[in-house]
Amino acid sequence: MIPENIRSQFPILDQQVHGHPLVYLDNAATTQKPLSVINALSDYYLTLNANIHRGAHHLATEATERYEAVRRQVQHFINARHSHEIVFTRGTTESINLVASSFSRRYFTGDDEVIVSGMEHHSNIVPWQLAGARLRPIPFSDEGVLDIDEYRNLFTPKTRIVAVTAVSNTLGTVNPVAEIVRIAHEHGVPVLVDGAQMVAHEPTDVQAMGCDFFCFSAHKMYGPMGTGVMYGREELLNELPPYQGGGEMISEVTFERTTYNDLPFKFEAGTPSVGDVIGLGKAIDFMNEIGINEIARQEANLLEYATSRLCEIPGVRIFGTAPHKSAVLSFLVGNAHPYDLGTLLDQLGVAVRTGHHCTQPVMDRYGIPGTVRASFAVYNTTAEVDAFISALERVLPLL
Ligand SMILES: Cc1ncc(COP(=O)(O)O)c(C=O)c1O
Repeated sequence: MIPENIRSQFPILDQQVHGHPLVYLDNAATTQKPLSVINALSDYYLTLNANIHRGAHHLATEATERYEAVRRQVQHFINARHSHEIVFTRGTTESINLVASSFSRRYFTGDDEVIVSGMEHHSNIVPWQLAGARLRPIPFSDEGVLDIDEYRNLFTPKTRIVAVTAVSNTLGTVNPVAEIVRIAHEHGVPVLVDGAQMVAHEPTDVQAMGCDFFCFSAHKMYGPMGTGVMYGREELLNELPPYQGGGEMISEVTFERTTYNDLPFKFEAGTPSVGDVIGLGKAIDFMNEIGINEIARQEANLLEYATSRLCEIPGVRIFGTAPHKSAVLSFLVGNAHPYDLGTLLDQLGVAVRTGHHCTQPVMDRYGIPGTVRASFAVYNTTAEVDAFISALERVLPLL
């Protein structure tokens, strides 16, 4: 699909902000949604709204079929072995909390370590702390590359799980997840991969990666907010206790004792966000229509162009220069505060993110308070990169 055709599917991009054409470069925070996803949401509420799995009537049956069809679609999209390994959640954060809570109740003994990377999002740090683990972070170089030799040294008899991000939301680094998994498995330790920044930008194959859990959010892959996925290998999911109790996750309930439902329903207590899951299916259709390899290729071109243009700015420092990078550009210019830069860019219609990006340990690693982050999606253009650089050149003399 050519870029103009892609862009025409995102009416939100065609607007003025503060009197300037919107240049949306905050895609690592959330991507915009194509019309097919937006229409699927309104169609769902206009024609289909019903609670799933338990109704005998037409709307409930139809809604259930559509919801379960998306489960199979997700299975194929990430190449899971079984559709019952796909659990719908509210997003990456809930997916990781689910694993941390259930896994720790099953396998933690009171003196437990979790290996994470030094570049984790807070949502892959705090749930493990809440579960009582001591975190052992894998250090990374100034370029933002994980030190795999140091990683090997972090394993101890107390290591229960490795939890790493596939792609850093701050540095853009694409981590060698298959290698990380192979090393962990040599120690008999399972691996959770945070795929929030991967699924919309790189082909995802959980079997090739070999990971035990894989978590992601629909809203970062052109889908609706408030829904996401926790993939878990069948054998492990069967071992874990449920995360939440309630309707749908049970087999039989008495006041004395409850037995649990089969996978994946054991982990889906209560009424899910059915319309949003159906919207996620349309988002996957959108990406498949272009092709994930083509998306990766277009974004790599944009990143290369944006990096070279940004390097023209005197005093610019880019954080994250790993050889294998996703389309994320974190930077500072001279002594300009990132928040001031972001606010001034917004006045010229350019939407970027500023701050620590929920990765405070990364900021501590570099000794900085935050960065400005421009992040790209398949609908972005080189003309937008030019507009972003021109805006930067205009605002810098003001600081
Ligand atoms: C790497 C990474 N992990 C986890 C998350 C959390 O995702 P969500 O807020 O959709 O649960 C994000 C969101 O920015 C992220 O970039």
